[in-house]
Amino acid sequence: MMNYLTFANGDKMPSVGLGTWKSAPGEVYQAVLWALEAGYRHIDCAAIYQNEKEVGEALSKAFADGLVSRDDIFVTSKLWNNAHLEGDVAGGLSRTLADLQLAYLDLYLIHWPVALKSHVLFPKEGSDYLSYQEAPLSGTWKGMVKEKHAGRVRHIGVSNFNIEKLTELWESSEVKPEMNQIESHPYLRQDKLVGYCKQRNILLTAYSPLGSADRPKARRKADDPVLLEDAHVAEIAKKHDVSAAQVLIAYALHRGMAVIPKSVNRERISQNLAAKDLLLEDEDLRLLNGMSDQFRFVDGTFFTEVPGSPYAQSDLWEQ
Ligand code: A2P
Repeated sequence: MMNYLTFANGDKMPSVGLGTWKSAPGEVYQAVLWALEAGYRHIDCAAIYQNEKEVGEALSKAFADGLVSRDDIFVTSKLWNNAHLEGDVAGGLSRTLADLQLAYLDLYLIHWPVALKSHVLFPKEGSDYLSYQEAPLSGTWKGMVKEKHAGRVRHIGVSNFNIEKLTELWESSEVKPEMNQIESHPYLRQDKLVGYCKQRNILLTAYSPLGSADRPKARRKADDPVLLEDAHVAEIAKKHDVSAAQVLIAYALHRGMAVIPKSVNRERISQNLAAKDLLLEDEDLRLLNGMSDQFRFVDGTFFTEVPGSPYAQSDLWEQ
């Protein structure tokens, strides 16, 4: 199984990373250390997860103890929506670097194609937003490119970008997005978007690969499907004598993506990394690729359904 994704300049990104979205302060410190001890060399972070300080403390401890050195690990973070103005990107990155106690990031992503005013974390009303006219994505991207040239980030990309938004960026700059981090699992294959990215050598990272059953209550409905309990996934897991989570992680790897399962449990953290060694068979992949019901767990309505929002679902997802 592919252990790394490779950027155009030859830099390598370990294909299984530790996800830290929803990892509570008080838990994420230990989770990062367990992950590094288990052999993870890729940690996925974001300013909005509001736990980067604690991730930074864990990384510092790991460096001080000689568990890993900075150059051994691959750290991703994401620019929050309230720092989209070209002149605000540097400040957003400075805060993340200070919190993570790092001099540089391996990868920095625009978290969403949605802009908020600088004092807003999550929007409650129309006046909390900046429109595309006020904060064009091409301006945000220019700020990202500057940071790449300055060396504070090695690679730059985006998250939650559809084909239209990727094309807009692609055409706006000589420096192209190198990564698109998207929700991806058998219930949301996004074949068209994946094909588009592969054609342009935009690498992919699968988030919520296990179906993020621990997502906030406000983002869950009683009849939402539970990916980890899927009968086909269970059948494949039984055949290979592995867990459902391992099947789902291996599925992302078989599609050529990096994958960032979140866990704060020591045994599950190790188990998830071991999924690298699971070889799925053609019939397994046929089953996983053939699920007709497609479902998005992180649907972006928390940006598009706020009264007065200038953003629509068509700004986020393929329609
Ligand atoms: P926990 O952190 O207690 O391990 P996603 O990566 O799709 O966001 O999913 C994260 C959810 O899946 C969390 O609730 C996490 O719980 C759980 N999880 C992570 N790894 C496993 C595993 N190997 N088996 C079962 N559940 C897991």
